[in-house]
Amino acid sequence: MPARPRLVVLVSGSGTNLQALLDACADPSYGARVVAVGADRDDIEGLARAERAGVPTFVAKVGDFSSRENWDRALADKVAAFEPDLVVLAGFMKLVGETFLERFGGRTVNTHPALSPSFPGMHGPRDALEYGVKVTGATLFVVDAGVDTGAIVAQAVVPVADDDTVETLHERIKTAERAMLVESVGRMAREGFTVDGRRVRLGG
Ligand code: GRF
Repeated sequence: MPARPRLVVLVSGSGTNLQALLDACADPSYGARVVAVGADRDDIEGLARAERAGVPTFVAKVGDFSSRENWDRALADKVAAFEPDLVVLAGFMKLVGETFLERFGGRTVNTHPALSPSFPGMHGPRDALEYGVKVTGATLFVVDAGVDTGAIVAQAVVPVADDDTVETLHERIKTAERAMLVESVGRMAREGFTVDGRRVRLGG
């Protein structure tokens, strides 16, 4: 990793994970900087957060392209324009495709609101609650072609309360998720990391 590696962050929603990264990056000793924020939709709080922080933004909507492959290539081109060292998917609700992974595989991480390999997909908090687990959490992983299957960088555990709803559980997960994301991305930036099969080691 170069000094102060360049992060491109992709979002689809409220962007609280992005905000945690933006806040951390405000201190140069954190070791990384957010050089751009991209989204797959307009008018989301995630993009507004980037704008307020003075970070350039871009949007690539699947519906604006004739195929998913063309969208994936356009997204990869937009990301590449900012020359990232690390791409962070922070609540980005689309699967990136083959072209994206050819270009950014091994240096794209995603955060998932469940303890992988349990409860992959769009509804991690709901699925954990319905299953009746007593602990769940969040997982940061190196993105591969599967759905939330990549090699695990870090995990954070939270308890499930008897009176939780999907919303209260997801909020508790997100609090832990933001701390884990900031801590792990900072360490990846400052110390480097290696991926050996499914084993990720921080500290190059
Ligand atoms: C996070 O829990 C993320 O893991 C999930 O959606 C949430 C995004 O939250 N996929 P935010 O947009 O960062 O507030």
